[in-house]
Amino acid sequence: MKIIDNIACLKEEIKKLQGSTGLIPTMGALHKGHLSLIKQSIKDNDNSIVSIFVNPIQFGINEDLDKYPRQLKKDCELCEKAGVSIVFAPKVQEIYKSDKNDLTLICPPITVLDKLCAKTRIGHFDGVCSIVAKLFNLTKANRAYFGQKDAQQLFIIKKMVEDLNFDIEIIPCPIVREEDGLALSSRNQYLSKDDRTLALNIQKALKTASGLAKQGINDKKTILDACLIILKDLEVDYVEFVDKNTFDITEDINKNTLLLIAAKTPQSKTRLIDNCLLYQ
Ligand code: PAJ
Repeated sequence: MKIIDNIACLKEEIKKLQGSTGLIPTMGALHKGHLSLIKQSIKDNDNSIVSIFVNPIQFGINEDLDKYPRQLKKDCELCEKAGVSIVFAPKVQEIYKSDKNDLTLICPPITVLDKLCAKTRIGHFDGVCSIVAKLFNLTKANRAYFGQKDAQQLFIIKKMVEDLNFDIEIIPCPIVREEDGLALSSRNQYLSKDDRTLALNIQKALKTASGLAKQGINDKKTILDACLIILKDLEVDYVEFVDKNTFDITEDINKNTLLLIAAKTPQSKTRLIDNCLLYQ
């Protein structure tokens, strides 16, 4: 496995690759969620490239850029063990020659930015799309792997690929959870013991909502209220229902309805997200 930190070397190595290439973009602090994407890519492709880059331009000013977990050595060991061909782990200066105000950015349309995470994380998805587009161009990958945990991110990336005619296939991968149901996230490292216990209510709310829907309750307000009661000890950012195909907020509860939750834990103020298809 090659560990590369600069663009010139990456381009050289990419030229040498034969067969298909899968890209797994990450910000590191790899866990079983990331590893499931990596495993899928290794199954599907001749070469798999993992990028590890804590992308500063997708963090807001009051967010956790400085304290975001960084553990490159351990991450590389995990990648090597999994059978990754290349880890691309550049420094910020290698990727961005100037600050965000002086960069050409890819900005998703207002139709996807007027809701969910984009509403509170201003500029976040410009930062995500811009780094992902750069990685697509640099690696020339045939496929790229994204987790369904970040459902709005996945939708926006798919739309970017379609709208801008990127020649790459986006492969969605299912959410990986701890045994007790908590969705794996690099940010789970921030959780205190009490936060960790309360965080489980997010999954509990999703399960309850799904249970109600399956019992035939198709009134959004009833399901929403049931979720909010379960989430009462967390700082809820949103509990929202969208159509999985359009990501439009929906009043209908049907087989296409995706329920998404974002909430902060009371002690460490860790922002957690999770989602499920109501009829799954
Ligand atoms: P990061 O949070 O490191 O996540 C990298 C990829 O792993 C994303 O596609 C995310 O959806 C997926 N992932 C994280 N937790 C998961 C889980 N529990 N189950 C399944 N997949 C999971 O998302 C980012 O980084 C960045 O925004 C990035 C796309 C790399 C751009 O900087």
